[in-house]
Amino acid sequence: MRLSERMARLGTETAFEVLVRAKALEAQGRNVVHLEIGEPDFDTPSYITEAAVTALKGGATHYGPSAGLQELREAIAEDSARRRGAKATPEMVVVTPGAKPILFFVILALVDPGDEVLYPNPGFPIYESMIRYIGGVPVPVRLLEDQGFALDVDRLCDKVGPKTRLIILNDPHNPTGGVIPEAGLRAIADVAAKNGVPVLADEIYSRILYEGEHRSIAAMPGMEPLAVVLDGFSKTYAMTGWRLGYGVMPAPMAQVVAKLQTNATSCTATFTQMAGAAALRGDQSPVDRMVAELRRRRDATVDGLRAMPGVGCVRPRGAFYVFPNITRTGYSARALADRLLEEAGVACLAGTTFGEFGEGHLRLSYANSLENIEEALRRIRGMLTR
Ligand SMILES: Cc1ncc(COP(=O)(O)O)c(C=O)c1O
Repeated sequence: MRLSERMARLGTETAFEVLVRAKALEAQGRNVVHLEIGEPDFDTPSYITEAAVTALKGGATHYGPSAGLQELREAIAEDSARRRGAKATPEMVVVTPGAKPILFFVILALVDPGDEVLYPNPGFPIYESMIRYIGGVPVPVRLLEDQGFALDVDRLCDKVGPKTRLIILNDPHNPTGGVIPEAGLRAIADVAAKNGVPVLADEIYSRILYEGEHRSIAAMPGMEPLAVVLDGFSKTYAMTGWRLGYGVMPAPMAQVVAKLQTNATSCTATFTQMAGAAALRGDQSPVDRMVAELRRRRDATVDGLRAMPGVGCVRPRGAFYVFPNITRTGYSARALADRLLEEAGVACLAGTTFGEFGEGHLRLSYANSLENIEEALRRIRGMLTR
């Protein structure tokens, strides 16, 4: 079959490819510690699973509205308004199978060929993939390692021009765990409002924060008509396999995104949505316990990496990734990631997976047991001191 021309521009998420390579090694009898994939190793809290079972037994097995069940849209609007301090009504919410479709739908809805989209680099690889696929012009904005991998807000503001159609932010940030300080968010909001540029704020890690309170650009002055917030259940409630996410955006934009969903998937599975409403309205202590445990793992990972020759490591403020600087080891990111997998049995990602500015770094997910993390650190140290 001859593929469309645009398929040549579609990127991917290498984490899934590394997972396949690691599984192939395991099938040959090798032992691999998995630090490549971005998902909590915790179980979904049982009250959420039970809500899904009850929903299924009660007959929630049919199509639902494209924008999502009213009950869940109400729960999301309440949660979002409370946590972000920004206006959120059920009409502003669209529920999707995972949060990823929000990214795709919003870029599809806003970006024409030739339009510029600003996005963080290193960053979640799907941003650049989607921008290119649609024919947009990706404009990468660097992160500042010496400032805890905060986005270079001055550079971002300088790059906003007449062709800028969308700004993508990710806060807290994958792959670095960096956070944009409030003053930075205000500066971005100012420039976005002055130029009428929409902002897609990917806040999927907003509940996984180790210091301070999450601040959303959606609550900044001038952002009400321009902010689209992406969030979901995958990370917060350890529900990656359920496929449940959402966007909160101005109501007319929500109608457009819901129309795209009608075309793409019709709707999100109804019983998972009912479980999502239970998640938001139920006991939040499992989330707090998960974050406390992730903090312990973060500290063990950072301290272990910092003690290795040639390795530097910023202590992340959110999410569950570290992005160590390996420049002084003499390896390129890809070469070290490959050797760690093939020779040491540690699956992790090269920083370049997340864009050109990721060179000289690895991404390790510490959403794995302390025991496995210690074993991975031992193996990495062994390779670097060999
Ligand atoms: C920054 C970022 N945004 C969005 C997503 C997608 O989340 P979901 O699994 O809910 O589609 C991920 C998942 O890894 C992510 O890291």
